[in-house]
Amino acid sequence: MSAKTIGIIQVKGGAGRSTVATNLAGELSKQGKTVLIDCDMPQGTSASWFAVREQAGKAGNLIADTATDHRELVAKVEKYKDAAFIVLDGPPRIAELTKAILILADLCLVPIGASKAEIWATSDILDMLAEAKKVKPIHVRMLWTRYRPQTKLAQNLTALVKDELGLTALGTSLGMRVGYMEALGEGLTVAEMADASAKIEVSFLASEIQKLMR
Ligand SMILES: Nc1ncnc2c1ncn2[C@@H]1O[C@H](COP(=O)(O)OP(=O)(O)OP(=O)(O)O)[C@@H](O)[C@H]1O
Ligand SMILES: [Mg+2]
Repeated sequence: MSAKTIGIIQVKGGAGRSTVATNLAGELSKQGKTVLIDCDMPQGTSASWFAVREQAGKAGNLIADTATDHRELVAKVEKYKDAAFIVLDGPPRIAELTKAILILADLCLVPIGASKAEIWATSDILDMLAEAKKVKPIHVRMLWTRYRPQTKLAQNLTALVKDELGLTALGTSLGMRVGYMEALGEGLTVAEMADASAKIEVSFLASEIQKLMR
């Protein structure tokens, strides 16, 4: 069995890719060997997060690696094929690496941080998606991050995404929580902090994506 691979892609910087990648990787590692590959070097947010985690003796079943171009990424995904899960934190641009992530992943998540700018940026991914779909079927889901369901903006954006992008959103969305910011710097998942609501959403996220990859 080869590792279930999840790619996190978004061309808009700061949309929440590394937040999704680190939380998902940490949560999935409770089930088995998980590899978090940071494809956003030299920034390396996920790699730094893991370094802090490892330093604190909390790596558990999780390991981290990096890939600076698509060839290296292909080689690393092959190298770790015996893992249960591989999570790929993508770069904030349309690059060969992003295309490689689309093709290598069993499921790609596109985080959108509930702002119009991110919806505009996401429309830039659509051409690449269409290209990649010529190679193989691609499974993509949008994931709301910093989501505040009670706001009018959130409701309007939900409609816009469906009509303009034609992308399906995951049922799970990540709320706007200070816990995500705190967890990132401490090498933890938000589920490992004392935040019950966040714990539930991260666990829902992990189970929803696993159902989609079956
Ligand atoms: N759901 C959330 N609630 C609150 N803050 C969040 C949430 N998601 C992300 N953030 C914060 O927003 C900032 C950007 O998030 P993150 O680093 O995950 O984005 P990114 O897309 O990986 O950005 P970059 O382009 O810098 O790699 C971080 O400070 C992070 O803690
Ligand atoms: Mg990042």
